[in-house]
Amino acid sequence: MEIKITRSKNLKARPADESKLGFGKIFTDHMFLMTYGPEPEWHDARIVPYGPFELDPACVVFHYAQELFEGLKAYRTADNKIQLFRPDCNAARMQDSCDRMCIPPIPVDDFIQAVKTLVEIDKDWVPHTDGASLYIRPYIFATDVGLGVHASKNYIFAIIAAPSGAYYAEGINPVRIYVEDEYIRAAPGLTGHTKCGGNYAASIKAGDLAEEKGFAQVLWLDGVEKKYVEEVGSMNIFFKIDGKIYTAACTGTVLPGVTRRSGIELLKDWGYDVIEGKLAIADVMEAGRNGKLEEVFGTGTAAVVSPVKELYWKGESVNIGDGKIGPVTQKLYDTMTGIQWGRLPDDKNWIFPVCEG
Ligand code: COI
Repeated sequence: MEIKITRSKNLKARPADESKLGFGKIFTDHMFLMTYGPEPEWHDARIVPYGPFELDPACVVFHYAQELFEGLKAYRTADNKIQLFRPDCNAARMQDSCDRMCIPPIPVDDFIQAVKTLVEIDKDWVPHTDGASLYIRPYIFATDVGLGVHASKNYIFAIIAAPSGAYYAEGINPVRIYVEDEYIRAAPGLTGHTKCGGNYAASIKAGDLAEEKGFAQVLWLDGVEKKYVEEVGSMNIFFKIDGKIYTAACTGTVLPGVTRRSGIELLKDWGYDVIEGKLAIADVMEAGRNGKLEEVFGTGTAAVVSPVKELYWKGESVNIGDGKIGPVTQKLYDTMTGIQWGRLPDDKNWIFPVCEG
């Protein structure tokens, strides 16, 4: 794929204090764009100065949310190399989301090339501070003009990037999670397995209510019986009960997280039984009451590996361990971030080099 590059003539000031970046608040100098339609192919790949879109108010995306996105990160290693973690998995997942949302897929190689090229051009924005990275947000949205509900024939594929720190204000400190028993996030046949914006829009109300009560996020139960644990607002979730590790299976209602699948591989390498399947919230609470709920942690690109210290469900709280990060959670966090930042060898070929820093 040929990418036309137009460099910004007004480079922005980069953040002076990388410890205060927050998540997804400021953006780099450039963005990647590619267009689909009116001819039936992706074309006109380009990198241009970061800036607003001019869109017709009747664009399909504004009315019917035909849209999807991805999230991945670029890391700066101690020897000043810039690298990505498993961008091929994001590219493949984006294709799956495209299929469900009737959006023409981006070839995997083009996706990776686009991400790499943008990161290389904006490489000075990849943070130098431990724990901070460049969060990359690829997304596609429908630009047909008109109010009929149909698959658009025109789209924009865009990639923006934001130097970011921890997703949660708590950082690696354990968070409190509210188990949602009124609203649902997904149901069989719907879009739970895709990264479409609509999934997140529908989750905001429950998230806000939980935050008002002092919880970091909600834990979603299955949408049919509200009985089985599925995932948390911005991450997959794992439970260590009596030595075994459980997480929901990816059978259509759970996001197939890249950190999730990487974590499962590492945990299995370390000899843990990892069970992907149905786990009833009642059994989790019971294990909590009996002292068998040893660790709970979330995984996600933004959240990395995030310990949970408390679950609240229907008026009852269970505390997990002693409220501090558990040993398996810590080991997974250290290993995952060790590979991502190049402190540990990449035995699994998960790292895609981009350039010298
Ligand atoms: C990510 O982890 O990359 C995500 O897309 C989650 C998002 C809600 C921040």
